[in-house]
Amino acid sequence: MNILVTGGAGFIGSAFVRMAIAETEWRVANFDKLTYAGNLENLASVDASPRYRFLRADICDEAAVSAALAEEKPDAIVHFAAESHVDRSILSPEPVIQTNLRGTFTLLEAARRCGVARFVHVSTDEVYGSLEPPLEAGEDFPLNPSSPYSASKAGSDLLARSYFVTYRFPVIITRASNNYGPYQFPEKLIPLMIANALEDRPLPVYGDGMQIRDWLYVDDHCRGIRAALENGREGEIYNIGGNRSLPNLDVVRQLLATVGKPESLIQYVADRPGHDRRYALSSAKLMRETGWRPRMDFEAGLARTVEWYCANAAWVARVRSGAYRAYYEQNYDRRPVAL
Ligand code: NAD
Ligand code: DAU
Repeated sequence: MNILVTGGAGFIGSAFVRMAIAETEWRVANFDKLTYAGNLENLASVDASPRYRFLRADICDEAAVSAALAEEKPDAIVHFAAESHVDRSILSPEPVIQTNLRGTFTLLEAARRCGVARFVHVSTDEVYGSLEPPLEAGEDFPLNPSSPYSASKAGSDLLARSYFVTYRFPVIITRASNNYGPYQFPEKLIPLMIANALEDRPLPVYGDGMQIRDWLYVDDHCRGIRAALENGREGEIYNIGGNRSLPNLDVVRQLLATVGKPESLIQYVADRPGHDRRYALSSAKLMRETGWRPRMDFEAGLARTVEWYCANAAWVARVRSGAYRAYYEQNYDRRPVAL
């Protein structure tokens, strides 16, 4: 199979490309703009493979997308490329709307015209919004996004679905919970807290830290996407959850214990505007239809992740460039500390 992956230089996309090259015979073209979140270092292990090819381009660029599809003739597209961070979407929504909505439209339209046989649109549990316990979202749960990021993902999900309903274009949508693991950009909770803890810097917990997220190890997510790609039904949506819901504060405390640093590093700061309190997913459909299960236990996954960040301090130092420092200052230095 020939596949074209968008956003394959990011956190989850690069894990998917590494998995595809290591575990399948697929040829993989990676179409990525290399924004601040895209990093070719994440793909060093596949770079020499004759089955791997990198194309630097923007999914909003219609000519570049059409040329790549004409050249690569993919049997399937797995669409990861997105502006993926909620805090950045609050500070500057424009690129989020551009890439997540316009870019997804550009890709869908070009892929439909080329007759691509399968299109997996990678989405998120954030589209269901905040859920009161004990509710869990199934795939038919109403969409109720809160941030510019989650609204853009909900919009792109609806657009992708409309391509199936209207044109019978073979779209499958996956919606995953919070991923963690190696190579995650240190703007997201777990890698940011590990990087700060290793440097004895404060760990900024938003609000009371009792917001609940369901943690999914990145390789389990990639296996779930592969299961949907190979065995999912066209036009269907599949949730992919880690089945491990925890308040943020528990995650941060567990992480500090793993790194061997004191809880006094925790600093409560002003909450994220529009902060969703709790996400919860049912992945029963993907499990029933494909046999997929999350394999990684959270404690083992967190220990492995901490180990990776300790062993890859140079990677962390490189991605925390000048631009990262400017973002950090904008998001944190002007954020009041809670008393
Ligand atoms: P990421 O921010 O680490 O990587 C995004 C990648 O997309 C980068 O390589 C970037 O260069 C590329 N990209 C951005 N804009 C582009 C454009 N206009 N054209 C081409 N490439 C572009 O993101 P991630 O955390 O790996 O998330 C990947 C996908 O999974 C996203 O669609 C996200 O919504 C979804 N998702 C993420 C999580 C999570 O916990 N991280 C959970 C569920 C779903
Ligand atoms: O649920 C899936 C989503 O998970 C994905 O769609 C997104 O792409 C991904 O970024 C992630 O979104 P979150 O907003 O849940 O992830 P983040 O790591 O930014 O935050 C996780 C929780 O931790 C959230 O409740 C906010 C909180 N938090 C985060 C940061 C960065 C803090 O308390 N302090 C922080 O500094």
